[in-house]
Amino acid sequence: MDEERKFRGDAKTAAMDSRHNSETVESGRSVLEARGLKKTYGTREKNLEVLVDANLELREGEMVAVVAPSGAGKSTLLHLLAALDTPTSGTVYFENKAIETQEDAALAEYRNRAVGFLWQRHQLLPDFTATENVAMPLLVRGEPHEVALTEARKWLTEVGLQERAEHLAGELSGGEQQRVAIARALVTGPKVLLADEPTGDLDEQNAWAVFGLLERLHRTHRLTSLIATHNLALAERCDRILGLEHGILRTRSVKVEARGTPGGEAS
Ligand SMILES: Nc1ncnc2c1ncn2[C@@H]1O[C@H](COP(=O)(O)OP(=O)(O)OP(=O)(O)O)[C@@H](O)[C@H]1O
Ligand SMILES: [Mg+2]
Repeated sequence: MDEERKFRGDAKTAAMDSRHNSETVESGRSVLEARGLKKTYGTREKNLEVLVDANLELREGEMVAVVAPSGAGKSTLLHLLAALDTPTSGTVYFENKAIETQEDAALAEYRNRAVGFLWQRHQLLPDFTATENVAMPLLVRGEPHEVALTEARKWLTEVGLQERAEHLAGELSGGEQQRVAIARALVTGPKVLLADEPTGDLDEQNAWAVFGLLERLHRTHRLTSLIATHNLALAERCDRILGLEHGILRTRSVKVEARGTPGGEAS
């Protein structure tokens, strides 16, 4: 396993930063791509440029971390990639198609089916059971109640929470709530998982457990994952680490085994 943690973070990889990450992964299908993403928030005093020129390409099966300090724009980036917000300029492509040009129905479909989103604050409904919370995205897309609940229970079992399925979300521990949130993010069978600080509120032991669960689900469900985190030790288990500085994404390091083989798998 130690070999798996080997990283290369040299000047060359750092220099081939934002424009094209083609040096890191030349094979594998492009699943999610961002070109020239800019996000400026208008505040009373002045405009705040959070993303200046963010470029990113996620290839099928990759697990990539974005590590940057608080306020750098990680959540902003993930929200734009998930079409939960719109960029000031620039484009997000899913499977080589620009998402901004799609009709409302296609965009809703993208949010609901293509992307699983793990919120920074898990945003579970505390007065609903774990099962009801996980079933919610399926109910939103019109699945019959029983089908949604059955699928939700299956997912709660998959994240090891079958014993807590009928507990109210508000009564679960932080680690359990995060597992419910993971089940809710994946219940629709997305291709992409965008996880915003999935271990941010957890103690070290729970953080490793939740991250291990994400790794397992990433593999078994053939996801393409982007994970924002402060935790460099966890990030180092990903195929690549990106930094976000002054609104620009840069490659910080690439796992040796991942080079040319996204997700460490033959393509
Ligand atoms: N809707 C908004 N209006 C104005 N400013 C905003 C808005 N959303 C975010 N910001 C600002 O944009 C910057 C980036 O915020 P963002 O939440 O993306 O950072 P982050 O890297 O996710 O931070 P953290 O690690 O604390 O979650 C911050 O300075 C924040 O105050
Ligand atoms: Mg954030």
